[in-house]
Amino acid sequence: MDFARAFAKTDYLTVGTQRTIDLAIAALTQAGLSGKDQCLIDVAGGKGVAGCDLASALGCAVVVCDRYPPVLADSEARVRRLGLADRVAVVAADGQRLPLRDGSVAAATCIGAASIIGIPRIFEELARVVRRGGLVVVSDVVWRERPIGPVGSEWGEPPAEIQHALPEYLSVMAAAGLQAEATHQHPYSDWEDYIAPIMEVAREARASGEGEFADELEEGFAVELRWAAAYWDYVTIVARRAS
Ligand SMILES: C[S@@+](CC[C@H](N)C(=O)[O-])C[C@H]1O[C@@H](n2cnc3c(N)ncnc32)[C@H](O)[C@@H]1O
Repeated sequence: MDFARAFAKTDYLTVGTQRTIDLAIAALTQAGLSGKDQCLIDVAGGKGVAGCDLASALGCAVVVCDRYPPVLADSEARVRRLGLADRVAVVAADGQRLPLRDGSVAAATCIGAASIIGIPRIFEELARVVRRGGLVVVSDVVWRERPIGPVGSEWGEPPAEIQHALPEYLSVMAAAGLQAEATHQHPYSDWEDYIAPIMEVAREARASGEGEFADELEEGFAVELRWAAAYWDYVTIVARRAS
């Protein structure tokens, strides 16, 4: 799939990105992790919305990393446009090997990407770079329940990276040294809001005669919505790095 084109009409690359950013800003503010002396990392930062919002709201320095060049370019453009170049650094990096020293940041966010990067490796990296007592905010898809028996072909294959129900997911985080303090379940409307701009791209593609691309988008995301409605939850987790 041409992801850059699919997501051309949105800066949000996962479900409820803005809700997770708002939860992260509230948690970090409450924990006193704001101000110019604090540094945070947003891992797999996509088009840079979280990095810029966190830097603006908290007045802190933020490192935004991702490994996909097109979104790094989008992040850099956003940072320049918002005049945040003195506070937000955009770097190419793999979430499995973050380019930071142990305990060097006050907090980390990883929005919609931990399962994609790889669990538990990403949690071990987040726990390594965040100082003791710091905060880690992640959002991800978890199993609400699993299908009993085989599902029909209209369901496709569920993505292999979705592995855990929430209690197991929290246990894996805890084993890496990240103790959950709060979990927030996103409403189903966050899935619909996430998919709406992609369906707009599909409509435009169909209108301009690109039926195959339109079908790919509509069918692919219809399957995702079907799984979400029946079997998946989208959650934001606020965790503390064990001291
Ligand atoms: C679902 S998107 C979420 C992006 C952003 N956090 C947001 O909410 O809009 C996942 C992001 O993870 C990035 N990504 C995937 N694997 C990665 C890896 N191993 N290291 C760093 N980034 C990765 C992708 O390039 C993409 O930008």
